[in-house]
Amino acid sequence: MSARVVLGVSGASGAALALDCARALIACGAELDLVLSAMAERTLALEVGPDAVGALRALAARVHPVTDLGAAIASGSCPLHGMIVVPCSMRSLAAIAQGLDDNLLTRAASVQLKERRPLVLLAREAPLTLAHLRNMTAVTEMGAIVMPPVPAFYLRPATTAQITAQIAARAVDLLRIATPRARAWDPTEGTAP
Ligand SMILES: Cc1cc2nc3c(=O)[nH]c(=O)nc-3n(C[C@H](O)[C@H](O)[C@H](O)COP(=O)(O)O)c2cc1C
Repeated sequence: MSARVVLGVSGASGAALALDCARALIACGAELDLVLSAMAERTLALEVGPDAVGALRALAARVHPVTDLGAAIASGSCPLHGMIVVPCSMRSLAAIAQGLDDNLLTRAASVQLKERRPLVLLAREAPLTLAHLRNMTAVTEMGAIVMPPVPAFYLRPATTAQITAQIAARAVDLLRIATPRARAWDPTEGTAP
């Protein structure tokens, strides 16, 4: 049986990462439940292009309106493997940290925490306020993994596509649904200082 994973996309910079994560999850044989915030749709259009939202939706097995708090994924009874929020805005991070469950994305994230399933947050902001840092601490204490989408400079990426694909592969590997796909550091290649 394929792993069923929620892909939550919020309105932070790095919208292309959502598409890379979706492709990486599908390459692992996962089935996607997609939920996009209103600002995610805006950042996808702004940063990737007018077809990005449609391309992302086409990769999902199910697409849920962010307002639909009665969707199956809002319940702990839904047989899910876990969830990735990519990118994760500081607003969505704060809502998850405080357990607000104020839309389907944050509710589904809360469900992963209460059911003790993996929740990976690609939290994106710079620089960070104390509120951001405290919210990251709070979600980590509850069991989430905060993975800021930082390039693996040690692999000497040549393109932004290589950077985002590597970050997405690392995020998907954290769910442990398939053998790791991210490129590993190899000291014999001598590409790092
Ligand atoms: C182009 C653009 C880029 C943004 N980048 C970020 C970001 O990197 N991090 C962040 O926390 N908010 C960012 N924001 C602001 C969020 O979209 C805003 O706080 C919004 O309320 C987030 O709502 P959501 O979490 O429901 O998507 C950005 C907004 C725009 C328009």
